[in-house]
Amino acid sequence: MIGARRLYQTACKSQVQVLGRTYEVDSMSNISNSIAEKLNRKLLNETLSPLSLLCRRIQGHFEQAHPGQFEFIQDDNPVVRVTQNFDELLIPPSHPSRSPHDSYYINREFMLRTHMTANEREIMASGVRSFLLVGDVYRRDEIDTSHLPVFHQLEGARIFTPDELLKMERPLGKLNSHMEAELGKQALQIDHDPRLVRIVIQNLYETLEGFMRSLFGRSSQIRWQETYFPFTQPSFEAEVYFNDKWLEIFGSGVLQKQVIHDSIDKSNLGWAFGMGLERVAMVLHQIPDIRLFWTTDPRFHDQFRSQLTNLDQPIIFSPFSKYPPIYRDLSFYHDSSFQPNEIFELIRNVDANVIENVQLLDEYTNPKTNQMSKCYRITYRSMECTLTDSHVNEIHSSIRQASQSLLNLQLR
Ligand code: DAH
Repeated sequence: MIGARRLYQTACKSQVQVLGRTYEVDSMSNISNSIAEKLNRKLLNETLSPLSLLCRRIQGHFEQAHPGQFEFIQDDNPVVRVTQNFDELLIPPSHPSRSPHDSYYINREFMLRTHMTANEREIMASGVRSFLLVGDVYRRDEIDTSHLPVFHQLEGARIFTPDELLKMERPLGKLNSHMEAELGKQALQIDHDPRLVRIVIQNLYETLEGFMRSLFGRSSQIRWQETYFPFTQPSFEAEVYFNDKWLEIFGSGVLQKQVIHDSIDKSNLGWAFGMGLERVAMVLHQIPDIRLFWTTDPRFHDQFRSQLTNLDQPIIFSPFSKYPPIYRDLSFYHDSSFQPNEIFELIRNVDANVIENVQLLDEYTNPKTNQMSKCYRITYRSMECTLTDSHVNEIHSSIRQASQSLLNLQLR
């Protein structure tokens, strides 16, 4: 019963401590033990973590390609006001990412940021107009080899005065043709001068293409596509062709006027982008499972030691061994209020370290009674040792009990 007891204790508390501060718990609070444990370990401060190596490499590129231009900031405190994470970025009240099924709330007022964009305005307010920002972000998510509820992002932004922009202007028609076509599909912000917007986009494009080529190779194939974000307009997403696949690398765009902090003159324009660090580190080093970033096994970190003196040459990770998986199924009846993220969170809280994947195998609605059922297959596999059947049985039985007692699911 390990899992059920732990979750229950959290649910009974009236206050929680997050990174040394005490917060009142209310009906929105949903920070679980498995996530609370992750809050204290700051991977970006571990020299041999591929994530901190990637940050140093990115910083090196920007210092070399744009000397003195960008301030590099690491923000290790993921607690932000709900308004910072959503409202000030114009994310609508009905947006699904606001749901406590998708995000971690400390209480109604504070949450764990779901993206680094949440800290952008406070950096602008401190007078910094051009920056690269890294930190840990949190999202309730499915369980598989490329998702964990905690990961890291790089956010970048650059704000210009109209004069600065006009000095950078080049003859028209210099935008890359692909970018030109994608720009043509989107409306500009109503009070933006199209001439200035083009210069912002030109700078965004040149800066970020150069950045991607520094990571993936000078001659890599890159494509830009129009997309939508509430905090930018127009918006673009960039993909790179790497190891025979198109990979989405970041979202970007021209910052919405209201998102630029009020301390900055209204005539200014700027661009921003945001990128996940694990995704990029996983493809560059061929790291097969996102849980490896959190292992304390020296066989992982030691492989990256030589990279400290040769940042631009990513080491290809060689798996120290792949221990065998053990599968168990979890089948239950549920009603229409059931949210898959709740079962994922429950499973993580029983034992986050030995579960590689949770996959929906089968679902069914009885047409006569409208009763619904689902069957999930859980893949148990440790990164560090071979699991025994009896250990897995014990964990699986805790998951079954917790699903009944905490989520009221009727097991089949
Ligand atoms: N915050 C977005 C996310 O987490 C990424 C992003 C998109 C950041 C566009 C930006 C941007 O600054 O302009 O998915």
